[in-house]
Order: sequence, then C-alpha cells, then structure tokens
Amino acid sequence: MAEEENVLAELDGIRRAGLDALSSVQDEAGLQAWRTTHLGRSSPVMLVFTRLGQISKEMRPAVGQKANQVKQALEAALEERGEFVRTASLRQKLDTERLDITLPGRRNPLGRIHPASQALAEIVHIFEEMGFQEYRSPEVETEEFNFELLNIPEHHPARDMWDTFHTTVPGTVLRTHTSPGQIHAMREMCPRPIRVILPGMVYRYEQTNASHEAQFNQVELLAVGKNITMGDMKGTIEGFARRMFGEHVRVRMRPSYFPFTEPSGDIVMECFVCGSKGCPVCKYSGWLEIAGCGMVHPIVLQNGGYDPTIYSGFAAGLGPERIALLKYQVNDIRYFFQNDIRFLEQF
Ligand code: PHE
Repeated sequence: MAEEENVLAELDGIRRAGLDALSSVQDEAGLQAWRTTHLGRSSPVMLVFTRLGQISKEMRPAVGQKANQVKQALEAALEERGEFVRTASLRQKLDTERLDITLPGRRNPLGRIHPASQALAEIVHIFEEMGFQEYRSPEVETEEFNFELLNIPEHHPARDMWDTFHTTVPGTVLRTHTSPGQIHAMREMCPRPIRVILPGMVYRYEQTNASHEAQFNQVELLAVGKNITMGDMKGTIEGFARRMFGEHVRVRMRPSYFPFTEPSGDIVMECFVCGSKGCPVCKYSGWLEIAGCGMVHPIVLQNGGYDPTIYSGFAAGLGPERIALLKYQVNDIRYFFQNDIRFLEQF
C-alpha cells in the first residue's frame, strides 16, 4: 500500500518537475529537448507505465489513471508552451527585422534601340520621305563588287583608301563601304530610274581613334535617271542636313576624290566640339566629314547596265555614327561600340 501511495506522490513530483522545466524553455530546440526528457520513451512518466505490472490489482487503476493524467497534462503544457515560444519568436522577428516599405523597388532594366541604330533609322526615314527606297545588299562581298566594278582596278593605288578585311575565301572581303550596293541596285533595276538608300554595316582594317572605328554603319544614296545634275545632289544632301540638324546648320561641299564618282566631293559640317577651331575629333580642320559624294562615274553606270550618254546619277555615302556624334554631341566615336551602359542609357 505504501508503495502505491509513493507512486502517486512520485507522479505529482514528475508533473511539477516537468512543468517547472518547461517554463524556462525559450525556443524550438528547447521544446524538442524537453519533449524527449519529459515525454520520451524513458521519461519518468513513461517508466511509471512499465511499472504498472508490479502494482497491486486494487491500486493499479488509480495509478494508471493518474499516470495518464500527468502525461496528458504534460502534453497540454508542451502544446501551450510551443504556442507561446513560436509567437514570441515571431514577435521578436517582426520587431528586429523591420521591412522598410519606403525603399524604392528594383527596376527591371529595359533595353532600347542603340544610338547608332536610332541615327540610322532617322536618316533612312528622312530619305524615304524624299522618295528614296530602302535597298539591302550583302556585308560579305566579292572584290569584284567592292572594288573592280566601282572602277578600282586590282593593284590600283586607290585601293589604299579602304584598308580591307579579307576573308579566308580568296577574292571575298567584308565590304569596306556600301557602294557595291550601287551595282547590285543598278543591275536589278536597269533601265528604270533609281532612287535608293542602302543602309548597313561596313568594315575597315584601320587604326581606331576619336572619329574612326573598324566597323560602322553607312547609308549609301543613289539616284540614276535622265538629266540628274550636281544641283540635285547638293539640294538633296542639304535638305537632309537641314532636316537632321535644323535650319541653320552650316554644311559645305568640298572637292574630293573617289574612283567611282566624277566629280567627287565631301560633305562637311561645322565641328560642334571646337566650334570649328580645330580639335582631335575634326582632325584640326574645324569641319567634320559626314559623307562622301559625287556624280556616278560613267564606267560605274556602264557596269550597272546604264548607258552613260543617256543616263546620269549621283551617289553619296553617309556615316550615321558621325552624324550621331554631331547630333548628340558625343566626342568619341568609339563609345558606340564599347557597349558601356552608362553611355547607351543616355539615348
Ligand atoms: N564609298 C565611299 C566611302 O566609303 C563614300 C562614297 C559613296 C563616295 C558614294 C562617293 C559616292 O568612302
């Protein structure tokens, strides 16, 4: 009998000890440890169950019942403490890890049209409004189209004007200018009158500097028909410059040389960097070349299928990046191909 009363008292002690220990548990790990110690397989309360067999039949139900009550009390207390610990830790997180909702969000970076392409598109648009049609021709050309048909024979010193990237296929080059497109367009449209623009990338094996790059865009202009004069050329190009830069822009045409035009000229614009005083961008001339131009050479007309005694024409090759330099007041052409986001984002 004494033994049984001892067990009942012992169960009270087990309950008290468990509840005492639980009241100082502060976190999830502590809860786990407490569960093992106080409700696990070899915890004091569970051991009482294994001892039931040794207890007299009369007292066994009372002891069993009490053990069950203690176990349930401990489980309920664990539940409650768990709730408390989790709420406390959430509150602590909310207090210490405050979300600053006033911080600006992260923007998804948006791409945009490259400034060289923007300038190209604007140039094309202006000429289209004047009635010129866009015509595409290949970037990989034969030497015949890039040179010979444009009146630049093999070994002729004029080839030095275009330092060329040769490919591994003999006689095949990266076009050094868009002028070979003149031949493609003439051969396709002969004998109809022509008004085309040929935009696209060209390649030069050149030392780069503030106004020269090894790759850049050109827009070739070609008009062929009867009674086309230099006056038409000058008017077309000046009209373009006024549309592109404003009514008061100072543009001039100075004599130049190209094998495929006769006579030939350069279109130059006041250098915006130095105000025409002379600087590295304009090679100390005060003027910046934006295009080469001229009346289509009779041999070139002939190579395109047009009889030079009946037809005449003018051609020009514009540099959109040069034009963008002027328009957006950029002082180094190399920015266009360095892909520096800080530069590109300004357009
Ligand atoms: N193709 C010449 C160049 O790249 C420019 C040009 C085009 C000149 C048409 C005259 C006529 O330098």
